[in-house]
Amino acid sequence: MNQARGEWSSRFGFILAAAGSAIGLGNIWGFPIMTAKNGGAAFVLVYLLLTFIVCFPVVMTEIAIGRRTAKNPVGAFKELAPNSQWFLVGGLGITGGFMILSFYVVIAGWVFGYFIEVLAGGLDRLAMDGEFTNFVANPWKNLIYTGLFMLATIGIVVGGIKDGIERWARLLMPALLFMLLALIIYVMTLENAGRGLAFYLIPNFSKITIPVINSALSQAFFSLSLGMGALITYGSYVSRKDDIISSGFIVTVFDSSIAFLAGLLIIPAIFTLAPDTTSETIQAGPGLIFVFLPKVFMNLSNDVGYFFASFLAAFFFLLISFAALTSTISLLEVPTSYVVDERKIVRKKAAITVGIVIFIISIGSILANGASEFFTNFITYPSGVQKDFLSFIADVFFEMLLPLGGFLLTAFAAFRWKTHNLSKEISVGREGYSGSLLDKWISFMIYICPFIIFFIFMNTVLEKFFNIVLF
Ligand code: PFF
Repeated sequence: MNQARGEWSSRFGFILAAAGSAIGLGNIWGFPIMTAKNGGAAFVLVYLLLTFIVCFPVVMTEIAIGRRTAKNPVGAFKELAPNSQWFLVGGLGITGGFMILSFYVVIAGWVFGYFIEVLAGGLDRLAMDGEFTNFVANPWKNLIYTGLFMLATIGIVVGGIKDGIERWARLLMPALLFMLLALIIYVMTLENAGRGLAFYLIPNFSKITIPVINSALSQAFFSLSLGMGALITYGSYVSRKDDIISSGFIVTVFDSSIAFLAGLLIIPAIFTLAPDTTSETIQAGPGLIFVFLPKVFMNLSNDVGYFFASFLAAFFFLLISFAALTSTISLLEVPTSYVVDERKIVRKKAAITVGIVIFIISIGSILANGASEFFTNFITYPSGVQKDFLSFIADVFFEMLLPLGGFLLTAFAAFRWKTHNLSKEISVGREGYSGSLLDKWISFMIYICPFIIFFIFMNTVLEKFFNIVLF
């Protein structure tokens, strides 16, 4: 292992950091609402099957490529397929990290901003109608909150693998779990929480259609940070003594568990204020987190007082900030590792430069919610749908590029690198893997995955941009 690049201090360090990358905004506001809208426990079952059957082999492929080469995604592809164009797949991942971070950090800035403003006594204002619209349209506030979040991300990545990323993951991940459990226990004691629980979990198999399966797989993919080389990069710092199969498995289990737990908090919380919510009326995404939940906390203040309700709200927004921070760290680490390895620039300078460039791009997303006409009405798709800059970048780099990256990565592993090499790498640190049932399973899936993921990619492109629904 190249000591100059850095290495995790232990297997557990890698698990926490990779779980930190996986567990993010996607788990907290993506999964619970998707589940509630699409068949409750039936959706959870489909999601888990897809996660372990389709995504887990991709998790293993990324980690194995990373550890095998001890390089960033571009360097990794160059090493495994010299004198070919495959390195462009790594380049796609690095571009993805760049662009996804540019809008993800803006949303993280909103979460952090809500935390600060609740702490400053502003819960009543944030719970008012129209306040979120005002908040996101304020360029200066958002410049500051996004800037601070970016600064924290850069500061941690500058610290390096062991003393930066791993150290913070060791602190933030247990804190996140503790806060989540504490809030769940509290919310469960509230009136109508049980109705929310039933709504979240009662299975309805009739909702499981092809588009639902499609979105479940995209959600699982995004949630596990797949398709852009984040796990190649984190895998490149794993010791050759470690068993990567159990590490990858634990990360996958952690990620699904936190997504599931987030639903146990959010859905019952919605029902404490709106006990008659249905899958048609439930709000999704930012509307839920920034508009509806402040009202839930404000409503609680009738019973527990304004101070305690504000404390709970601050706790909640801090929890999401932590989840987002461990993800922004991994998004910055991908391009940073590229600059360090390939351009031979020291980590500190690389992380600061890359971070500043991404922050500059993020200004477009900061201005995309009302502050600037140009960025707010940025583009009209062939389907006629108009999108702001932030949503456009999310559609292109998040919804499209990740499945495309996943398709190319698995196609690479199956048809160029070959599954016997994948299997050989996974066996390092894990005796008895070669030839095992698990080995056969993963190798088999790596041939099937490109087709499944390509299907998702095509469906997403047709639906997003052209409003064509094939199935
Ligand atoms: N997995 C993160 C989430 O669920 O919010 C998002 C993400 C982080 C995607 C890092 C990709 C990535 F490389």
